[in-house]
Amino acid sequence: MKRVTKRTFEEKKQAGEKIVMITAYDYTMAKLMDESGVDAILVGDSLGMVMLGYEDTVQVTMADMIHHVSAVRRGAQRAHVVGDLPFLSYHGSIDAALENAGALMRAGAGSVKLEGGESVCPKVRAMVDAGIPVMGHLGLTPQSVNQFGGFLYQGKTEESAARLVEDAKALEQAGAYALVVECVPKALAGELSKTLSIPVIGIGAGNLCDGQVLVYQDMLGMYGDFVPKFAKQFAPVGDLIRQGVAAYADEVRRGVFPAEEHTRM
Ligand code: KIV
Repeated sequence: MKRVTKRTFEEKKQAGEKIVMITAYDYTMAKLMDESGVDAILVGDSLGMVMLGYEDTVQVTMADMIHHVSAVRRGAQRAHVVGDLPFLSYHGSIDAALENAGALMRAGAGSVKLEGGESVCPKVRAMVDAGIPVMGHLGLTPQSVNQFGGFLYQGKTEESAARLVEDAKALEQAGAYALVVECVPKALAGELSKTLSIPVIGIGAGNLCDGQVLVYQDMLGMYGDFVPKFAKQFAPVGDLIRQGVAAYADEVRRGVFPAEEHTRM
């Protein structure tokens, strides 16, 4: 089976085909996502919230990311695996940033993702020069939630939209192969998708992007702590899990499970 790579992203952009990305954080889910035919699996630092129960992504470490990237890679045969560089793992020296990006690649990522614009471009360039494909991330960048003062839409004023366009162009120039834009107005995301030669993957950014990404717990109704307005629920998996587990508990309590067919006599 041919694995999706950054080249596939480029080809899809040129052909006007939408790119489908979704998060996963473990082997079983990565296998299910892969079998569902998505193009890319993002091992996002959102795992800090949806897998580890933190309030935000700031507490996620390199060790957390390496652990989850390697599990996802074992489950994903075809999909491209993107590993998220966590908070402050690329803000020190270029050498330290390269070391951390390299660690995610060694764990099985096919590329890494980092948040920020012009200020991170020297790191992006160094990674690309070292053979590491880089996906950028602009708009609501969750690692800056404390700077923003909450999970707030970005690029709403003319000035902030213009800044975002400049940052996007700088990332493209630095060699990023794709860009995630999160929680920005549809028109701005559409303009970016039209202007940039690299694919723009939206989340909470409307349908004019070259592709979409969602956190799987949001689209399957599995995470109730914070439900983003933009996240459509495609299947009520959270409800199904609750129903299935309640049925199991009921049968155990009534002595119905295990039945004869589940028992070696
Ligand atoms: O960490 C993550 O899951 C992400 C997506 C929300 C784009 O960065």
